[in-house]
Amino acid sequence: MTNQIQNFKIPNKNSKNFWQKLAKPIYALAPMAGVTDSAFRQICKSFGADVVYSEMISAAAIVYDSKKTLELMKFNKKERPFVIQLFGSKPEHFAYAVKYITKKIKPDGIDINFGCAVKKIIKQGAGAALMDNSKLGRLIIKTVIDNTNLPVSIKVRSQVKQITVLNFLKHLADLDIKAIMIHGRTLNQGHSGPVDYNIIKQARKFFKGIILANGGIKNKQDVQKMLALTEADGVGIGQGVFGKPWIFEEIKSKKLKEKSDKKEIFKIMLKHAKLINKLKDKQGVVEMRKHLCWYVNGLKNASILRQKLVKIKDLNELKKILEI
Ligand SMILES: Cc1cc2nc3c(=O)[nH]c(=O)nc-3n(C[C@H](O)[C@H](O)[C@H](O)COP(=O)(O)O)c2cc1C
Repeated sequence: MTNQIQNFKIPNKNSKNFWQKLAKPIYALAPMAGVTDSAFRQICKSFGADVVYSEMISAAAIVYDSKKTLELMKFNKKERPFVIQLFGSKPEHFAYAVKYITKKIKPDGIDINFGCAVKKIIKQGAGAALMDNSKLGRLIIKTVIDNTNLPVSIKVRSQVKQITVLNFLKHLADLDIKAIMIHGRTLNQGHSGPVDYNIIKQARKFFKGIILANGGIKNKQDVQKMLALTEADGVGIGQGVFGKPWIFEEIKSKKLKEKSDKKEIFKIMLKHAKLINKLKDKQGVVEMRKHLCWYVNGLKNASILRQKLVKIKDLNELKKILEI
């Protein structure tokens, strides 16, 4: 923790709200730990994602100057608008982390995680536990807003224990939150099962900013259904991008055709691998194994390919497997 950051003066408020400038509907890459790293965000951007979120970043780890966490926040200007998502449970950690991000990292927005269902995170009182503790949740949002001039957004679930997103938003009515991504599933549902479209639609009564509806989007028809039923300003896409970063292009195109050409998919895999290799060297290619396996889903001989891809160690091995 440095004094330079603690004494940092917040530049002009409200000078940088990118959310207002985006054309609607907005198609966002939802934050996903272990998935939405810089290389993948760049690939999604190249296919037309309008806004991309980081993996969730620990506010405490920024305070403790964790090298790994500082690495996670690096981004390329091609990713803009780029939103960093923070998780945590201590307002003082958020205050420092947000000043640090505003001064040193300079993304386009800061998001706060109120939906994470991972036990380790809930135990710390962070993620979805924070939605269940609206007093602390509110204080954290206020602290974040007070310590940055960047637009602040939140990501919530339809319901956590007894508190619905509607009740939660009632507590936040006076706070200057610019956008909200609502995952239309309860904490108990995790990341699968039916999405509550109606509660997302009702959220409009309690929130005037940008609403992104999230949950279960796998293709263009799903987006159309989501937007029709929720009347949201846009959508957040999570698991639907697994092995399919071109989903943004498909959603935006007039045709309904889905990409299935093996050669074309292999070219994207290689482009993604080269990018990650540049950013993280061989270790990046190893980390990318899951993406590689997702990319070949549905292709002929997918299981044989997956058996090879799951063991891949570097870019040359990938080139041999893909024969390009
Ligand atoms: C592997 C994985 C990691 C995730 N990590 C995060 C995260 O870091 N922050 C967050 O707010 N949500 C996270 N989520 C939740 C997603 O952003 C999204 O809300 C959820 O997957 C539902 O959307 P979907 O049905 O389109 O996948 C994660 C989900 C998955 C599957």
